[in-house]
Amino acid sequence: MKITVVGAGAVGASSAEYIAIKNFASEIVLLDIKENFAEGKAMDLMQTSSLNSFDTKIIGCTNDYYKTKNSDIAVITSGIPRKPGMSREELIGINAKIVKEVSDELIRYSPNVILIIVSNPMDTMTYLAYKTLGIEKRRVIGMGGALDSARFKYRISEALSCPSSDISAMVIGAHSDKGMVPLTRLATRNSIPINQILGHESIEKIRHETKVGGATLTSMLGTSAWYAPGAAVSSIVHAIACDQRKIFPCSVFLDGEYGLSDIAIGVPVVLGKNGIERICEIELDKIEKNMLGESALGVNKTNEILKEMKII
Ligand code: 2OP
Repeated sequence: MKITVVGAGAVGASSAEYIAIKNFASEIVLLDIKENFAEGKAMDLMQTSSLNSFDTKIIGCTNDYYKTKNSDIAVITSGIPRKPGMSREELIGINAKIVKEVSDELIRYSPNVILIIVSNPMDTMTYLAYKTLGIEKRRVIGMGGALDSARFKYRISEALSCPSSDISAMVIGAHSDKGMVPLTRLATRNSIPINQILGHESIEKIRHETKVGGATLTSMLGTSAWYAPGAAVSSIVHAIACDQRKIFPCSVFLDGEYGLSDIAIGVPVVLGKNGIERICEIELDKIEKNMLGESALGVNKTNEILKEMKII
């Protein structure tokens, strides 16, 4: 199983590290445009292999897509991260061109690759990749909901003083501060609905903290987070590489599912060896349907910028 990670910055390197530690991949190619940067990160990571007991071979390269040839899965983390006070959407001007070039190169050397899009604004970057590459939508997967759901579980576990492994919770909608839809009605602590154990105020606080989870860390760190994004990427890659058929909320191109079309946005999907095996259409209540509709309006607005940029 060959995995490529484009972008050896904090998120890309963390993704590569967690994928390696899970030890299901034979090879990881870490690619960056900065001379020797990916090579250095790969060597540093390989020097952990005896300590972290993995056999995965990690190689770094400087913008040499030939080295990514015949990758099974490729993760696109390249582009600029946001600074404190910025929205993810403000990154589109720079990141759209990068994601377009990178995805073209990846498909050129690995025509059957499954793409995982991380670069922000992620839902719009997923839409861009799908619309320009002309490949099946099952192979263009945006990673955002898995990260947001992990933050959602963290906030619930904090409120309940319990391990997050006791929590089942999902965030759908856009990977954006305003557009996220944490499904509080369906969240449970070991099958017990959280709305039976937490008051309305606590739940609304959790909803808000989840939605701004990325921005909170960016204001603390001075840049975007990387540990949880890297862990979320590795979980999605693992599910595909090992045909786990697990459900994750991922950004996927919709053709009428959830009443939405011509958009990529976070919905629950089954992940397996084919990438998106199935889109799961769950029953949403009126409030949730409205929230998802509002979220889609925000994504469509950002997608329009791609058209103004004449990149699609
Ligand atoms: C985050 O929410 C980087 O968008 C990513 O941390």
